[in-house]
Amino acid sequence: MNKMNSLLVAILACVSMNVLAADAEAGKAAVAKYNCASCHGADFNSPIDPSYPKLAGQHSDYIEHALIAYQRGASAANGRGNAIMGGMAKPLSKTDIKDIAAYLSSLPGSLVVRK
Ligand code: HEC
Repeated sequence: MNKMNSLLVAILACVSMNVLAADAEAGKAAVAKYNCASCHGADFNSPIDPSYPKLAGQHSDYIEHALIAYQRGASAANGRGNAIMGGMAKPLSKTDIKDIAAYLSSLPGSLVVRK
């Protein structure tokens, strides 16, 4: 194997480890710490207001992207502006976001048909 190939293998290994590193249990602890259920519902499938989104069973990459977009804010490319979620997303680390996304997507919900 040449140098380029071993470099590629190393990069791929890092990328796949990163995906595997998402920890749903840590995500469960993080949503408890930040009280996300107070708006999105204890089961994350019954938000306290019909205009608040359901999160249970949502694709993890979508949740991850949404949280990063709130952190970026409305004025940034690919950003989302929302007074509530901007504040909620702000303190989350990249790891928190991955873990939260893994946890929420693992929950049974009415959003998507589960495989
Ligand atoms: C005070 C109420 C409130 C709290 C607490 C709250 N959210 Fe939200 N969340 C909302 C509202 C309202 C929206 C819709 C905002 C919009 O229109 O963009 C939303 C949107 C979202 C979305 C985007 C969903 C989608 O379908 O695009 C995600 C993901 C999310 N919240 C995750 C969280 C997480 C994780 C926490 C805890 C760290 C949290 N929320 C705490 C009210 C709340």
